[in-house]
Amino acid sequence: MTNQKWTANDIPNQTGKTIIITGATSGIGLEAAKILAAKGAKLILPVRNAEKGKNAVKEIKQRFPDADIAVMPLDISDLDSVRQFAEKVKTKYSKLDLLMNNAGIMWTPQRMLSKQGNEMQFATNHLGHFILTGLLLSLIKATPNSRIVTQSSVLHKKTQGQDFEPQIQFEDLNFTKSYDTKKVYAQSKLANLLFTYELDRRLKQSDIKAIATASHPGYTATNLQKDAGFMMKIMNVVLAQKVDMGVLPILRAAIEPDLKGGEFYGPTKMNEMKGYPELVSSSDTSYDKELARKLWEVSENLVDFKYDF
Ligand SMILES: NC(=O)c1ccc[n+]([C@@H]2O[C@H](COP(=O)([O-])OP(=O)(O)OC[C@H]3O[C@@H](n4cnc5c(N)ncnc54)[C@H](OP(=O)(O)O)[C@@H]3O)[C@@H](O)[C@H]2O)c1
Repeated sequence: MTNQKWTANDIPNQTGKTIIITGATSGIGLEAAKILAAKGAKLILPVRNAEKGKNAVKEIKQRFPDADIAVMPLDISDLDSVRQFAEKVKTKYSKLDLLMNNAGIMWTPQRMLSKQGNEMQFATNHLGHFILTGLLLSLIKATPNSRIVTQSSVLHKKTQGQDFEPQIQFEDLNFTKSYDTKKVYAQSKLANLLFTYELDRRLKQSDIKAIATASHPGYTATNLQKDAGFMMKIMNVVLAQKVDMGVLPILRAAIEPDLKGGEFYGPTKMNEMKGYPELVSSSDTSYDKELARKLWEVSENLVDFKYDF
C-alpha cells in the first residue's frame, strides 16, 4: 500500500547525490533546496538574479551551515543562457542524479516575448526546460538511477475555476492573434506533462535507465501569484496551502523508490488543491502519444536542438 501521509521525513539521506533545482530562489524550489540540503545532497542552483541567489544560499546555510551549494547563472527563458549553463555544468560535474524542472511564471499581465521571440510563459515553463534536459542528457545517462522531475499544475486541465479545455495551440503557439494569459499558462503546464511522458517513453526505447516523472503542488501560496490580482492575494491567505506542503509532490516524484517512470504526484484533497502527495491522473489530452510526439518535434525545431538518446 502506498504511504498516504508522505512527508519530508520519508526522504532518505541524499549524501553523494548531485541535484539541480531550477527556480530555487523562492517558493517551492527554495523549500525543496532547504530539505535536500538538510539530507546531504550536493545542490546546483541555477538563478537569473545573482542577488536572489545569494539570499537563497544565506537562508539555506542559516539552517544547514554545511550545505553544499553551487549557484550558477541561468535565465531559463533564454536559450543562449540555457546552453551556457549546461556547458558549465558538464565541464564541472561528471554526474547528475536528479534534475528538478521547477522554475515557472504564471499569468503575465500582458503578452511578453523571450529573447528568441517565443511567448514568455511557454518559453520559461516548457521550452527552457525541454532544451535544458536534452543538453544535460549525457550526464543523466552517465548516472545510475537518475531522474528528471518536472513541475506541472492542476491547471493543465479543465478544472474548477478554469472552464476551458487546455490545448497545445500548434497553429499559433505564441498566441499572436488573441492573447489569453490563462490559456497560455495552461498550455505550458500541459506541455510539461506531454514532455514528461514522451521523455520517459524515449528513455525506455533507448534502454536508458533514467526515468521521468511529474508533479503538481495543488494551490500553494508563493510568489507565483504576484501578477494574479487582489482576490488571489486574499485566497493565498485563506485557501492556499503553505509551501512546506506544496513542496511535497515534487519531492515525492523525485525521491520515491521503485517508480517505473511516467508517474504524476499531487495533493488529492479539495479538488487536488491541498493535502499530502499521492499518485494522481492527468487529463486524457496529456496521455495522447501522437500529440506528445508532435510537441516534441515542434519543440526541437523551436529551440534548434535535437536530443541524442
Ligand atoms: N504555487 C502554486 O500554487 C503552483 C501551482 C501549480 C504549479 N506551480 C508551479 O510550481 C513551480 C514553482 O513555482 P512557485 O509557486 O514556487 O513560484 P515562485 O515562488 O514564483 O518561484 C518561481 C521560481 O522560478 C524562477 N524563475 C522564473 N522565471 C525564471 C527564469 N526566466 N529563469 C530562471 N528562473 C526563473 C523564479 O526566479 P526569480 O526569483 O528570479 O523570480 C523563482 O525562483 C512553477 O513551475 C509553477 O508553475 C505552482
